[in-house]
Amino acid sequence: MVSRVIPVEPFDLVIFGGTGDLARRKILPALYRRFRAGQMPAGSRVIGAARSARSTNDYRAFVREALVEFGSADEGGQVESAFLALVHFVQIDVTGAQGWAELAAQLQPDRVRAYYFSVRPRLFGALAERIQSHGLATPDTRIVVEKPFGNDLASAQLLNATLAAHFEENQIYRIDHYLGKETVQNLMAIRFGNMMFEPLWNSQYVDHIQITVAESVGVGGRGDYYDRAGAMRDMMQNHLMQLLCLIAMEPPAKFDPDAVRDEKLKVIRALGPVEPHHIVRGQYEGNGDLPGYRDEVGNARSFTESYIALKAHVSNWRWAGTPIYLRTGKRLVARSSVINVVFKDAPHSIFGEAAGRHANLLSIRLQPNEGITLKVTIKEPGPGGMRLVDVPLDMSFAEALGPDSQSATDAYERLIMDVIRGNQTLFMRGDEVEAAWAWTDPIISGWTAAGDVPKPYEIGSTGPGDAELLMKRDGRQWQGINP
Ligand code: NDP
Ligand code: BG6
Repeated sequence: MVSRVIPVEPFDLVIFGGTGDLARRKILPALYRRFRAGQMPAGSRVIGAARSARSTNDYRAFVREALVEFGSADEGGQVESAFLALVHFVQIDVTGAQGWAELAAQLQPDRVRAYYFSVRPRLFGALAERIQSHGLATPDTRIVVEKPFGNDLASAQLLNATLAAHFEENQIYRIDHYLGKETVQNLMAIRFGNMMFEPLWNSQYVDHIQITVAESVGVGGRGDYYDRAGAMRDMMQNHLMQLLCLIAMEPPAKFDPDAVRDEKLKVIRALGPVEPHHIVRGQYEGNGDLPGYRDEVGNARSFTESYIALKAHVSNWRWAGTPIYLRTGKRLVARSSVINVVFKDAPHSIFGEAAGRHANLLSIRLQPNEGITLKVTIKEPGPGGMRLVDVPLDMSFAEALGPDSQSATDAYERLIMDVIRGNQTLFMRGDEVEAAWAWTDPIISGWTAAGDVPKPYEIGSTGPGDAELLMKRDGRQWQGINP
């Protein structure tokens, strides 16, 4: 399958925090891949900005190393040289007054300007203010704001208000990189591009939904941030919540930014409070080979969760009575993000009790090995009466569409190009983020007030045993976590 590349007009992209980890691992390689694909035209500029001094030549060498390390370089070839020629560097402390005039001199008038805020969130306000006060914002200017967008409702409201003082909502691109994943967008295609699912997509036919985002990696070098955030703020409040919205929302009238985001917002606002006994928090323990969570973050008394499972309810006509179970954690048995839609049993078995109960299961695999599987019930072949057996109708997108069909464009590539094109569909609107925190805050304050201590779990497991109980109490069970 050949992807269609529609080049954008030449643009200027300034990466504040251009020497940081995110720029190195994600933003710069993504830009290079778009350049190599022919989507980013020569004449565009990528301007790295950071506090410490370095020359443009040094910065180009830094970018080149990033391309080599993160798998995008063509080893000193012409394409790479052409890309590096578009890269520049300006030294700016975003809280200070130096460097802005030099930056202004690098920018072209009358073209799209994107400022990527890849610095610590507490610098976002100063940065937005400086861009305006130094006259660097044009009507075609966009700002791209990285996560975390606040750490509770009050801080998210404050941040929204600060950004709104300097930019219009249609200039603000709040990143949730899960929305840029090919297969996450596929959720909408599967639901709204096929007639067969929608009539069954409600509490009359769906028993429950499971959303799992399992990671095999630990906290890594981000222990400082993570220990203040935990799985609830780091993953649940944004990535899993977005998946839940896409699975549960009503069909938008059209695929346009506000139509989609209006429907997602309705889902978040319909989320009921979560009972304390419907939440399981966990923390991984060391196993001799690998350090435990507390060692990894360097906090021997940490009560932050590296795992969370909970049972949520979307209180509206479509979903009342169908719980949605969500779980995410680090250092689990495999990296696997899957949504399982578990249908109800047939209301009456014409084959008698001996045939057993058989519920259909639709599994949407987001990563890795993207695809969908539908478990259907058939007659077990051969003599011996009417014995029923469940078989999977399995479709791997890679097998069906070719290996280039998946992950050809990584989330950051798509999202950055959407910023340049001015398409906000895959970005979170301010009210969406606030609604997500409004749901999250009482959950966190509930366990904080109760002095909840996360349950230990083994590295390489599926999480704490209590998460299994959460399901068992309802007569249900989690589907396996498979790579
Ligand atoms: P790093 O600490 O690796 O990099 C920070 C960058 O900000 C450096 O380039 C640094 O430049 C620059 N910087 C710091 N202070 C100033 C200042 N006063 N003025 C100008 N530049 C400054 O951070 P990350 O790259 O990891 O994270 C950046 C943002 O992205 C954060 O908001 C983070 O939450 C978010 N994020 C990061 C992810 C990741 O995987 N790393 C994932 C998702 C979000 P210098 O070195 O010169 O001081
Ligand atoms: C980030 C979280 O937003 O998403 C990380 O901060 C997490 O903790 C990462 O590891 C997972 O993203 P992906 O694309 O690897 O599933």
